[in-house]
Amino acid sequence: MTNTQDKNTWSGRFNEPVAELVKRYTASVGFDHKLALFDIQGSLAHAQMLSQCGIIAAQDLADIQRGLAQIQTEITQDKFDWQLDLEDVHLNIEKRLTTLVGDAGKRLHTGRSRNDQVATDVRLYLRHAIDELLQLIAALQTSILNLAEQHTTTIMPGFTHLQVAQPISFAHHLMAYFEMLKRDAARLHDVRGRVNRLPLGAAALAGTSYPIKREMVAELLGFDGVCENSLDAVSDRDFAIEFTAAAALIMTHLSRFSEELILWMSPMVGFIDIADRFCTGSSIMPQKKNPDVPELVRGKTGRVNGHLIALLTLMKGQPLAYNKDNQEDKEPLFDTVDTLTQTLRIYADMITGIKVKPAKMRAAALQGYATATDLADYLVKKGLPFRDAHEAVALAVRFAEQQGCDLSDIRLAELQKFSALIDDDVYQVLSLEGSLASRNHIGGTAPNQVQAAITRGREYLAQR
Ligand code: ARG
Repeated sequence: MTNTQDKNTWSGRFNEPVAELVKRYTASVGFDHKLALFDIQGSLAHAQMLSQCGIIAAQDLADIQRGLAQIQTEITQDKFDWQLDLEDVHLNIEKRLTTLVGDAGKRLHTGRSRNDQVATDVRLYLRHAIDELLQLIAALQTSILNLAEQHTTTIMPGFTHLQVAQPISFAHHLMAYFEMLKRDAARLHDVRGRVNRLPLGAAALAGTSYPIKREMVAELLGFDGVCENSLDAVSDRDFAIEFTAAAALIMTHLSRFSEELILWMSPMVGFIDIADRFCTGSSIMPQKKNPDVPELVRGKTGRVNGHLIALLTLMKGQPLAYNKDNQEDKEPLFDTVDTLTQTLRIYADMITGIKVKPAKMRAAALQGYATATDLADYLVKKGLPFRDAHEAVALAVRFAEQQGCDLSDIRLAELQKFSALIDDDVYQVLSLEGSLASRNHIGGTAPNQVQAAITRGREYLAQR
């Protein structure tokens, strides 16, 4: 980045140049250059409208288009000379345009302010980011479906309080995350609708005296409509905040998933293995294989949560309309998008590389009296009130614990001491397979129900 002693755009009113420290403090080009292509896109639409409305000449429009095309090439080829003196992405591009095409470049800013310009750029950037993120969520969901499909009859313990609770299939567990991601995608889609409105035309804050056509610009840029109040258009960043909130929720879901992967991969549990390419070793302990990727996902969730708080705090004390505070929206927003994008991308691949260890899962499901509820339900179905059934089974569990065996290992005569209602059909109920199969309703863990959920998931993805 170059630093020259050029006169500032507004220098006519000032007696001395901006202090060097202040220049560095206020400049945003170091990060907002990321908006460059969206800035050009917005400028092209604005110029086209100015020309159509007779505010600038057709020749000016042609010059602006030619100049911006060249600038776009310079930027994409990394040949653009970004200057700190020119403060931000907008002034850098405008200055270069004027150098390239002369007066037409100076006319581009007619009827526009950087306030509505930057709000437009950020919205274009975010819309693009959301569209990419929605694709990445769908790809992750596909990975989950593919893994789940292989494991509708792979039995593992389901937990509450991290204690063995009831048997479930591994597929059922995975599909819980599919559902979370479905809501995450819906949230992003919903946010997109509010992002996709045009601020341009609001100018600095009050609108502009030129005979502009905002709807035309909105249409050219693919916005669903215009922001309907000029002060609101330039000042609020609620769309960035709600996006970051949605992003924080996605990260939170993936953080929980990560915590489980870490736990399942621990040799103490041993339910799964994560492909080596997602793990690292230890510099001192030769036996170690560490789940770095899920750990980092868990860690980076804190970072995105922090961005949400940063943006909320940035907004809360601002009077209408635009304040320079808003320049601080970009780094948290960009980092949220980048972190989430990388996380989703790596996650889809990581899920594909999971190796499942069904025998370990099954052994764990057999350990914690996971079918005790099934026995209680069995007694209820034979006429015992649920509370009495609960008590009878609790005594049976205590007995099994003393014997050091599973409920299904207790002989019928022994079981009947806890309730005369018990018959030899109880052993089917006490089996892991029987337990799963009996939860045969939408949302239950019965293999046919989980397979149906997977099929619905595929249909949902095909429609999205
Ligand atoms: N770089 C500024 C931002 O990010 C652009 C808008 C500047 N407007 C102003 N009145 N200083 O918000």
